[in-house]
This record gives sequence, C-alpha cells and structure tokens, in this order.
Amino acid sequence: MRDGGDTGLPGVVRIASTLQEWAGETASWLARCAEESRVEHGYFGVALTGGSTPAPLYERIAAPPYRHSVGWLDWMVYFGDERAVPPDDPQSNYRLAYDHLLSRVPVPEERVHRMEAERPDRERAADEYASILADTLARGPGGAPRLHCMLLGLGENGHIASLFPGTPSLDVIDRWVVPSVADYEPRDRLTVTFPVINASEWVAMLVTGAAKGPALRGVVDGRVPAARVRPVDGTLMWFLDEAAATAMRAAG
Ligand code: 6PG
Repeated sequence: MRDGGDTGLPGVVRIASTLQEWAGETASWLARCAEESRVEHGYFGVALTGGSTPAPLYERIAAPPYRHSVGWLDWMVYFGDERAVPPDDPQSNYRLAYDHLLSRVPVPEERVHRMEAERPDRERAADEYASILADTLARGPGGAPRLHCMLLGLGENGHIASLFPGTPSLDVIDRWVVPSVADYEPRDRLTVTFPVINASEWVAMLVTGAAKGPALRGVVDGRVPAARVRPVDGTLMWFLDEAAATAMRAAG
C-alpha cells in the first residue's frame, strides 16, 4: 500500500494495488486502532458501515491472526446508518456486519448496538439511538458522542452513511441521529449526523472500485456530502484501491 499524497483528498491517503492488499491493510489498521483505543480508553467504540465495500475488511479481521489477537471483548459496536428493514433482511447493514464479522468474533451481544430503523416511529428510534451513543461514549468536540473509529463507505453520488445530496439531514447540527431518505431503495433510513462523524477520533473512508472515481473527485472539489467529513479533533484516513484512485484522476 502506498501513500497517495497527491490526490487532493483531505487527510491521510493510502492506496492499495489490489483488493486483497486493501483488505489486509485495512484489517491491520483497524486492529491497531482497536488496540490503541483499548489501551487508552479501556474499550473500542467503533461504528460499522454498511454497503458492500467493507465485506473484505470484515472477513479479513474476523480471520486469523486477528481473530485470535484482537481484544473483541472490549469492542463496543455501533452503526453509522441503517435501512428501514428487519435485521435479517439481505439489505440490512446489521445483517452485512453479522454475516461477515459479528457472527465470527466474540463481541458480547450486549455490546452490539443495532440501529432499529425498521421501527414504525423512526423519530423515536433515532432519539433512542442518540441516547445510546450519549450514554456509552465520552463527549467529543461540540458535545457530540465521540467514537474512537467511524468506518464510512462512499456512495457513487458522494453520500456517506445515509447523508444523501440535497437532503435536510446534511444540515442537522442539533441532533446526533435522524431519519433520512436515500435516493435508492430501501429509501427510509436512520443515520448519524455530521456532528457525530466529525467528533470521531478516527474516520476511515473505505473506497474501492472505479465506479467511485467521480465521487472522489467530488470530494476534492467540495461538491458532495463526503467533502464535509472533517474530524474536528481527529484523523481522517482514506483507504483506496488502485481502481478507485485511477478513476478519480481520470474524472479530474
Ligand atoms: C448504506 C451505506 C452507504 C454505503 C455507500 C457505499 O447504508 O448503503 O452506509 O453509505 O457505505 O452507499 O456502498 P457500497 O460499499 O455498496 O459501494
């Protein structure tokens, strides 16, 4: 994996030659992040992302050697967003994390905080999830709950979590979790807001594949929601594969 210093992306940029190298490097980084947090804070508060990108990372860190070396009992697992579907639905972000990671490692069930986006009253579900964040995490910049690590994928339109272009959720600063609407099915969502994302100690953008090139260019040009990911007192990491990096340059 090489530094991608000349991409114009804000923060630290790492570019893997292959998807296999990407999975290995992101798993190694996440394991180090978890250990540093365990030593410094006594636990590791991590928000998982949905979509398809993180699956190779989840599977790699759930396999040896990390399966046996990571302090899973000290993980506190959250979700950055969720679709309004049951947890066993193939489109559920919880289901993705369960199938590729949580079913394979011994994170205690009571330390996995699922977003209940399927509940009829999503406003109440949003407020209750915000309370879980507030009750289990320290406060970060601006008073928002401070995740040790926020994993985020990047949509082809430049969305992150379920913060979609042109939607009111982008501008919410007085709530930490809100109902939102996607521009593809399942449309109804719950998502953390930018105050939570930008209060994180580490934010890792996980971006692979040529299809994400225009969205990456949109970040550099400040045109998409992901351009607003700027940890106030934290570090922003970009983990790209060569396909995404090449497509970003071509989109420029
Ligand atoms: C979701 C995700 C979303 C995802 C991006 C990238 O609920 O869909 O949280 O933000 O990370 O859309 O999705 P892919 O990884 O599938 O490209």
